[in-house]
Amino acid sequence: MNLTLKIWRQKNANDKGKIVDYPVSGISPDMSFLEMLDVLNQELIEKGEEPVAFDHDCREGICGTCSLYINGRAHGPQTRITACQLHMRSFNDGDTIYIEPWRAKAFPVIKDLIVDRSSFDRIQQAGGFISVNTSGNTQDANAIPIEKEHADKSFDAATCIGCGACVASCKNSSAMLFVSAKVSQFALLPQGQVEATDRVLNMVKQMDAEGFGNCTNTGACEVECPKGISLENIARMNREYLAASLKG
Ligand code: SF4
Ligand code: FES
Repeated sequence: MNLTLKIWRQKNANDKGKIVDYPVSGISPDMSFLEMLDVLNQELIEKGEEPVAFDHDCREGICGTCSLYINGRAHGPQTRITACQLHMRSFNDGDTIYIEPWRAKAFPVIKDLIVDRSSFDRIQQAGGFISVNTSGNTQDANAIPIEKEHADKSFDAATCIGCGACVASCKNSSAMLFVSAKVSQFALLPQGQVEATDRVLNMVKQMDAEGFGNCTNTGACEVECPKGISLENIARMNREYLAASLKG
């Protein structure tokens, strides 16, 4: 396949940035999208040019780092997959492909296609955990019976990989789908009840402090989420937040 890539190049956080054209040839339809970028980078290195900086780690849909906006869609044209799981057979010979970083105030560009998503880490640190007394008297988690429906929904929420596609695809740059998944995975389990009030209040407070926008129920986040995280989680978080506010 021969392709024209139009890639966002930005030297650092202060650089204005621009789209630069790169023709690539000899791309196999069986290559992953990131392997195609590897081919481009190898060519750039051999020519003595700066390779395109992009985030990646697991390359199998788990780590959530491969945050690429491809032809105007988070993680590209397919649904329920990450950019690293996208294959070049999803494109046609001769195509022009636009590749950009996530665009959101709370995800500033560090370089080229890499954005700073530490705002997600700070939201997690504000309450996305369970404190366990590990003094030796800890009850085995499996000893607590949990309704199958709740266990399944909690597991579904826990599959969120923190990629940020929900934010990137939202016209308001809202992080509600991400935060609600992290709140829900604990809200549905007995182990999550002890810190439930503080958790939702603190995580929402941090989300607002990071500069994410409000949810206006457009639903683009659910459509573009590679893990199919449901909007149901946002409704659950709103209920949790209301209940916590009345208590607090
Ligand atoms: S909710 Fe979906 S799109 Fe948002 S961070 Fe989690 S996995 Fe990514
Ligand atoms: S590189 Fe880990 S999810 Fe894509």
